[in-house]
Amino acid sequence: MNERLRSLPPYPMVRLEQWRRELVAQGVRVHDFGTGDPREPTPALLRQAMIDAVPEISQYPNNAGLPALRDAVAGYLRRRFGLEVDPARQVLPTMGSKEALFHLPMTFVQIPSDKDLVVYGEPAYPVYEIGALFAEAWTYAVPLALDNGYAMDPERLPESVLRRAAVVFLNYPHNPTGFPLASELYTKWVEAREEFGFVLVSDECYVDLWYGDAPPRSLLEFGQKGCLALHSLSKRSGMTGYRSGFLAGDPELVAQCGRFRASMGTTPPEFVQAAAALAWTDDEHVEARRGVFGEKRAVLLAALRERGLRVHGSEAGLYLWVEVPDDTNDLDYAARLREVGILVAPGSFFGKGQERFVRLALVPSVDDCRAVAATWPRS
Ligand SMILES: Cc1ncc(COP(=O)(O)O)c(C=O)c1O
Repeated sequence: MNERLRSLPPYPMVRLEQWRRELVAQGVRVHDFGTGDPREPTPALLRQAMIDAVPEISQYPNNAGLPALRDAVAGYLRRRFGLEVDPARQVLPTMGSKEALFHLPMTFVQIPSDKDLVVYGEPAYPVYEIGALFAEAWTYAVPLALDNGYAMDPERLPESVLRRAAVVFLNYPHNPTGFPLASELYTKWVEAREEFGFVLVSDECYVDLWYGDAPPRSLLEFGQKGCLALHSLSKRSGMTGYRSGFLAGDPELVAQCGRFRASMGTTPPEFVQAAAALAWTDDEHVEARRGVFGEKRAVLLAALRERGLRVHGSEAGLYLWVEVPDDTNDLDYAARLREVGILVAPGSFFGKGQERFVRLALVPSVDDCRAVAATWPRS
């Protein structure tokens, strides 16, 4: 067995699933705010689009993706961010963003070389680190903290790290905290990329879920050379099970990803791509889903604040980042909540130094959130 696989700790969300099963076995009705897999139905028009596209004769999908999907993505990037991209050269479909993120270090890091580092923030979605591990790259986790809004700032990194960086991952709106990244910092990252020559990757899978007046921005608005943005239909369109997303940006990098990905069989089935083309074209269902998540968020925020709990960030994305009461820590507070059937993810699941927080995914229904809001423990 690959030694890296042997040394890999269990994927954090597996622990959540174990806790959920234990509660169910005890006959407890579980309010599951653990994993970010919403339960609202996939919009009917998208399900139908997939069914209508199932062909009589099944054939391998073309690695470049359906032209209709790439055109739909280009249209989305234009409407949403004012971007002009060439759908033939700058867009590639992926099976959601997880596999694409995992494979990027293998595509862009040469070991050994003087550019052998993969850089990402901590706390973070764990796949940036795991992808680097299997690419045999070195990793550098930038400690992110509440006092600077979990912002990743190239000025806070040692120059030696920037120089050695082959791939830098940004992820805003940030999982697990829901903080956005200020425009000045996107600009600073684009400038640092120009100076040091790494591949700058922006994981934007939550970019369409926002609750204030300012929709989050895309890295590609600030620069495209050496840059890639990854998007996903999972949460914004209710399609986690369809496994569909795209990567877009610098045509040279997209071409290299295309070459790498041609060996793997990770192009989504064409009937999924047909539904995806519609999902990137129709903005109405996304607005409706934002409304539903916004309602859950408002109900829970009011209840948590009324209990004296502080909620940080949580301005966009699918999560509330909640500071635990002073007399406890993330694991103990999560255990206390499980006693009343509420399942949340301890902050330490996402990285070191996060023991004062738990993460709530806005997954249970609005009615469920209301029930939980009424019964959330007072201490
Ligand atoms: C930050 C982040 N990136 C990527 C993903 C992967 O999503 P998907 O593969 O469904 O697009 C997730 C899923 O939760 C995530 O939180």
